[in-house]
Amino acid sequence: MTPAESRARLMPQVCDRAFAAIYDPLFAGLERSGLSALRREQLAGAGGETLEVGAGTGLNLEHYPATVTRLVLSEPEPAMAKNLRRRAEDDPRSPEVVIAPGEALPFPDASFQTVTASLMLCTAPDPGAVLVEIARVLRPRGRYLFLEHVRAHEGERRASWQDRLERPWSLFAGGCHPNRETAALLRSSPLTVERLDQIEMPRIAGPLVRPAIIGSAIRPAER
Ligand SMILES: C[S@@+](CC[C@H](N)C(=O)[O-])C[C@H]1O[C@@H](n2cnc3c(N)ncnc32)[C@H](O)[C@@H]1O
Repeated sequence: MTPAESRARLMPQVCDRAFAAIYDPLFAGLERSGLSALRREQLAGAGGETLEVGAGTGLNLEHYPATVTRLVLSEPEPAMAKNLRRRAEDDPRSPEVVIAPGEALPFPDASFQTVTASLMLCTAPDPGAVLVEIARVLRPRGRYLFLEHVRAHEGERRASWQDRLERPWSLFAGGCHPNRETAALLRSSPLTVERLDQIEMPRIAGPLVRPAIIGSAIRPAER
């Protein structure tokens, strides 16, 4: 391997490790300014056997209601998963941690009553494929609870800045794309949107990632 090739291979790993290391301090102010409250609202309807996709360092853990009977946390990035495991060990529900991308969830069909994900569809390489997988592992009438930042409405100045700064932002923010049309993606997925509220993330998040959606979608009952 040439030095350039080995640098190209190492760089993403170094960035992933650095992002995992600064993730919790980076989010601390945002959590206090209102993100924690949004997480609680998002997860309030979780119940039964529950899977979280792209759980990061586990910032959702403290917000799950007591109606959750089993909690599985999936996360593809080893550096994030290391911090996730640490947090999961301190949780009285003893959640299981599984290393897996949302595009290939290692669970049988119809395994979960609830699937959740926060701020994940902005980062997954193929968010449409993740939604197909979420629908597959949900039981019929099972619920997907989401909280995602999204592209601003067409014509808003913020939308053009999200498009222009997509690449540098993605490098700085662990592969996050600030301009994904996630509401449209959800509506064209195998899930049926039950509730989708357009919201604003706390001001401290900055204009690129402030437009957001929160809500739920259901896996239709089998015909
Ligand atoms: C902005 S972080 C959000 C972490 C956590 N959900 C939270 O709310 O704090 C994005 C997360 O998505 C994860 N991710 C990246 N690609 C993914 C994929 N293909 N499937 C599932 N998660 C993915 C990242 O590793 C990271 O943990």
